[in-house]
Amino acid sequence: TDGGSDAAKRRAGERAAEDVEDGFVVGLGTGSTTAHAIRALGRAVDDGLEIRGIPTSFQSRRLALEVGIPLTDLDAVDGVDIAIDGADQVVDDPDTAAHGALIKGGGAAHAREKLVDSAADRFLVVADPSKLTERLERSVPVEVLPDAHTVAAARIQELGGEPTLRDAECKDGPVVTDNGNLVLDCSFGQIDDPDGLATRLSAIPGVVEHGLFVDLADVAYVGREDGVERREY
Ligand code: A5P
Repeated sequence: TDGGSDAAKRRAGERAAEDVEDGFVVGLGTGSTTAHAIRALGRAVDDGLEIRGIPTSFQSRRLALEVGIPLTDLDAVDGVDIAIDGADQVVDDPDTAAHGALIKGGGAAHAREKLVDSAADRFLVVADPSKLTERLERSVPVEVLPDAHTVAAARIQELGGEPTLRDAECKDGPVVTDNGNLVLDCSFGQIDDPDGLATRLSAIPGVVEHGLFVDLADVAYVGREDGVERREY
């Protein structure tokens, strides 16, 4: 089968890294697929490529430092040339307006990811085939201020969602994001109108960011066992 293998993720990540040119400011996404891109960029830097990276999480910062990518910050650059980032689901249905919409935030990094990915001139999604879907249906991660988690959860229920506070695996208590906030994983069943839901979630007081990425991706590289498919949005 060719769903979710590390070889497929590596092909996608390495293909995206090839689009990075000398002098670029590069948004460095989060997750196991993007990690392959970051490692490939580290090798290219060793070979003389001059880039500056902007990490989207503690984890991608750590990996970028480990592989020797010089880092900068969003407020220290004129712009971001390209961002490479993974996804938890990608709509693959050219007949719908939602084609190319994403759910992100499986790693609780979606607030900074959306900031950096949307600042980029080009946002490349890297994915394996298990991420492709006709309709988004996974839970939507919603980062909330700690004080807001009960009232925001009530508002999300009014929108038809079922919010669950994400618990940490190796700690007694909830996941705390890199920004010091909490995450509500919100199940809406099948999401027919991601754009509308995105707008309604953003309007809830105390919501810092949600994991619906609509109209942001420019290209997806989907790794297969034997090659890479390219999708343009
Ligand atoms: C992080 O918050 C997520 O948005 C990741 O980008 C997403 O979970 C993809 O991760 P993998 O590449 O490990 O599947």
